[in-house]
Amino acid sequence: MTSKISPSLMCIDFTNIEEDIKLLKASNVDYLHFDIMDGNFVPNYTFGPDFMNSIRKITDLPFDIHLMVENPERKLDFFNIREGDIVSIHYESTTHVQRVLEKIKDLGVTPSIALNPSTPICCIEDILDDIGVVLIMTVNPGFAGQKMIPAMLNKIGRLRHYLDIKGYKSIEIEVDGNVSFENSRRMKKAGANIFVAGTSSIFSNRKNIRNGVYRLKAQIMD
Ligand code: DX5
Ligand code: ZN
Repeated sequence: MTSKISPSLMCIDFTNIEEDIKLLKASNVDYLHFDIMDGNFVPNYTFGPDFMNSIRKITDLPFDIHLMVENPERKLDFFNIREGDIVSIHYESTTHVQRVLEKIKDLGVTPSIALNPSTPICCIEDILDDIGVVLIMTVNPGFAGQKMIPAMLNKIGRLRHYLDIKGYKSIEIEVDGNVSFENSRRMKKAGANIFVAGTSSIFSNRKNIRNGVYRLKAQIMD
C-alpha cells in the first residue's frame, strides 16, 4: 500500500503556521492531522472547529481529523468536514460505534476507528464494512513527545494480518504516536501505511520541516 504522511498540527510552530503549512504542501504531504482533544476523553486540550476553518482557508490539503473526544457523534456537525477527509473516532469514546461510523460515511468521507493501546483488535470484528482506516495509537493519546509502547509494533502486524485474512486488504492502517524516523521504518514493515508525523520526525527541527519530510519519506516510501 502507498505510504502517506499526515503531519500532526498540534506539533507545528503556531507563530509560523501559514508559511509552514505551505511548506508541507510543497513537500507533498498527504493530509494534515488534527488532534481534537476535549480534556475529557484525554486529559489535554488542543484546538477546535474555528481553528480548522481558518486552516481550510489557507490550504486545499485534505484533513485527517482525529477526534479524541467523548461522544463524537455530538461533535461531528461542528466540524466543516469535506470530501477527501478522514474522520477517526475512538472505539472507546461512544456506545454506538457503528452508528457514528455510518454517519461519517454518510458525510461522504472516510470513516476510521482509532484504538487505544490497550484496546484489542478483535473489537473491530463487526465493523469492518464500516471503516476505511484503523488508527493504531502507539502511545497513550493526549500528548506529543511520548515514547512508542513497544508492544504496538506487534499489534500493527497482527492487525494487518487480521484484515488481510478477513478479506479487507483495502483497509489502511494509520499509526499515531512517536512515529520517529527509526520507528516509522519498523511500523511500515509491520504493515502501517499512514504515518502521523509529529515532534518525533517532521517537527523535530521546526526550522527545517522540509528536511523532516524528506527524511521521513526516505524511511517509508517503497
Ligand atoms: C498523541 C498525539 C501525538 C502527536 C504526534 O495523542 O496525537 O501522537 O500527534 O507527536 P509525537 O511525534 O511527538 O508523538
Ligand atoms: Zn492523532
